[in-house]
Parts: sequence; C-alpha cells; structure tokens
Amino acid sequence: MILKWYQSYSALFRYTKQFTINKKYATIPNVSKSSNKLELLGQKYIIDEWTNITPQIIRKLGCNLHVTKYHPLSLVRQQIIDYFYKNYRNRVGNPLFSVYDNLNPIVTVSQNFDSLLVPKDHPSRKKTDCYYINHETLLRAHTTAHQAELISMGLNNFLIIGDVYRRDEIDATHYPVFHQIDAVRICTEDEIFKNINGSGDLKLFDSQRVETAEKQGYHTLESVKVMEHELKSTLTGLAKAIFGQDVQCRWVDQYFPFTHPSWELEIFHENKWLEILGCGIIRQNILEKSGAGNRIGWAFGMGLERLAMCLYNIPDIRLFWSNDTGFLSQFKVDDANTRIQYKPISIYPQCINDISFWLPNGGSYTSNDFYDITREIGGDIIEQVLLKDVFVHPKTKRTSHCYTIIYRHMERTLSKKEVGEIHYKIEKATTERLGVTIR
Ligand code: PHE
Repeated sequence: MILKWYQSYSALFRYTKQFTINKKYATIPNVSKSSNKLELLGQKYIIDEWTNITPQIIRKLGCNLHVTKYHPLSLVRQQIIDYFYKNYRNRVGNPLFSVYDNLNPIVTVSQNFDSLLVPKDHPSRKKTDCYYINHETLLRAHTTAHQAELISMGLNNFLIIGDVYRRDEIDATHYPVFHQIDAVRICTEDEIFKNINGSGDLKLFDSQRVETAEKQGYHTLESVKVMEHELKSTLTGLAKAIFGQDVQCRWVDQYFPFTHPSWELEIFHENKWLEILGCGIIRQNILEKSGAGNRIGWAFGMGLERLAMCLYNIPDIRLFWSNDTGFLSQFKVDDANTRIQYKPISIYPQCINDISFWLPNGGSYTSNDFYDITREIGGDIIEQVLLKDVFVHPKTKRTSHCYTIIYRHMERTLSKKEVGEIHYKIEKATTERLGVTIR
C-alpha cells in the first residue's frame, strides 16, 4: 500500500478491517536460495516462501541512527527522554520511565501482531507491507511490538525507541526504515485516584462490561477519563516542550487494534494539520495476558523522522541516512534542546582535501587566520574547514596542524583539477602570509 507520509508512525496499524490494500508489490524473494539460511545480526534464520527482506534493507540493520551521537534523530530521542525524566519522577526523585533503545528489531509475528490483538486478516500483516525473514519472523513494523513483553517483565512505565521497517516507496517523505518511540504507563486503582478528593468509592473496573465509544467494557468511565486526561496532557506537554509553548494541537479519534479508545495528536505546522502520534487506552486483554490485569494503562507511538523534519526543517527523509558532513555537522550540539534550523546543502558531491603544515615559531599563528585565507581564496565553494590533527614534534617541539578542507559547489560538480588548483593557492597564500611550512 502506498502509505502517506504520516507512515512515520501509524498509518499501517490504524486501518480497520474494512480497509483493503492495493497489491502494489509482487513478492520478490531476493535472498540467495542456494542456502536456506540467512544470518542477520549474528543470528541464523531459516528462509521460506515468506522471506522478502532485501539486501538493501539488511544493510540498514544495526545502523542505529537513533543512538548515533549528534544525529538529528538522536537529538529528538534525547529531547523526548528528557521530557519524561523531568515530568515523571518517583517518590525519591528518580525518573519513573525506563528506556529501551537497544531491543532487537527482529521480532516474531506473535510479538508484532498477536500480542497486540491485531486480527489474523488485518492488512498490516501482509507480505506486501512488512519485511518477513520467514513466516514467523519479521523486522518489527512498530516499536509497539515489545509492549506486551516488557509489561510481562513487570515494568509499569517505559519508553521503547528503535528502528522500524515497512515496505514502501522511497521519496522525500517515505523510507522503508524509520524510527519510532513508544511509551507505556500502567497504573493501579490507588495510583490513579490518589489525587482526587473523596475518591474512596472510585473503582477501576466495571461489572457492567459494555464497550462504548468512550471506554472498554472492563473499565469504569471515571478511570478511563483520569487516564485519558493524563495521557493527553502528557502528550500536548511533550509537543510544547519540543515545538514551543505556542504550538497548536488538536485531538482526532482513531482506531488501533491494541487500544480503545484511541486518538491521534495533530499539530499545526506550516499551514496544515499534521498527525504526529497515535495513542490510546491499552486493551485490557493485553494487560491481562501480560500479568497486569489489575491495572489500567495508556500507550502512544510516534515517528521520529517526521518530528525531526518539522522541528529542524529537514526537507527530505533520505537525508537522515546521509554521511554528508554538510548535513551532519549542522546537528553537532551537546545540548539536545538547542534550536537548530537546517540549511539545505548542495546536491552536488563534496570534494575533500587535507593540508598539513608546521606552524611558525613564536606563536603568531592562529587557526582563524587560516580559515580567513581559505574563504578568501575558495569563496563559497568552501563548505567546511576542520582542524583534524595537532602534532608536536617530540624533538624539535615544533607544532603542526592538519586541516580538512571540504569543497562543494552549490550548482555543479567540481572537478578534481579545479579543486586542486584552489587548494594549491591556499597552500601558497598560507605559506606566504602566515609563515607556515607545508609538510
Ligand atoms: N504502533 C502504532 C503505529 O505504529 C502507534 C501506536 C502505539 C498507537 C501505541 C497506539 C498505541 O501505527
């Protein structure tokens, strides 16, 4: 199915049963059938007629952009974690939520779908939409895949962050690998009513057992309303923490197999409403099966790419996979909450040359003088100048600097020859004016 660009978090799962998909992709088994095993992240898997994972996708496994230092997705991850750490603390002041950002993206069909009550005939299970390793194993299509398991382990408040995989076209807003964050919070009756005066009679569970648009059969309306309020204020608070206090938010009813009621949060960005996350009250069956049947819970799932694209003005989702230092260097900040506005880089390739020289004695040399010379001679085709290495000769005590100069033209590909000529002029001017000796 062609997912719209809100694929980055939820399009796949919110379809109700009536939704039919168009069979856009034929299944192309692209794994060598000479051996019937495939090794992924150090583990061997049997391949079968469900296998549709491709070499391009295999190459993305283990990239872990969401925990790569200075990567924009990692900055967004850090901001969300900071928000949860700051706003949810236990009695002794420690963060309430634990963070899982390193869970294996290879999951079972049961984790990804069954544990979340996704019906057997639900379109999100189709081979045309997921990357299957075999009939029982796939690359997780959402980080919600780990929800039931972590609840079973006894956790009540947690965040899951990771790479997720959905078969899709590649264009400026679609990419078959993206990143999500999920959160779960489950509470006991005492916890949810403790701040409400005269709450002695308030109960979590309803003996009436009728499901309505507002609640599941299991729950009392009051317990759902308390959870709904907490969930929604947590999420609008998060939107404000990320996009600023003035961001406009609105709630839209939604459907997910694993939550009821369910909503989507939209923010107003560049003159349109944009869905940024899906959320809801966790289906009580999931909690019961995970040994937390005496609690009520909320959960949400959100795509990091879409958030980062809005926040930093990143125009193309493919840029997240770029090794181009013109892109990456713009996110090199130690405080994840720094405001950054991405400035588009040229589509033409970089040309990288190093220069090393001995500094003159007497300490008159400064790097800034060198930077000025490079700009004066190279002009706008100098994209970056980086001090790569400083070396002090053990005997002579002379210092040498090595710089990397990154050249790039905004409108065309530079030839090696022309870059070589400019580089030579820079060397010459630096020698003459700053008294350095080229090594
Ligand atoms: N997993 C859903 C998706 O990717 C989002 C979601 C998570 C919705 C948790 C509700 C609760 O589409």
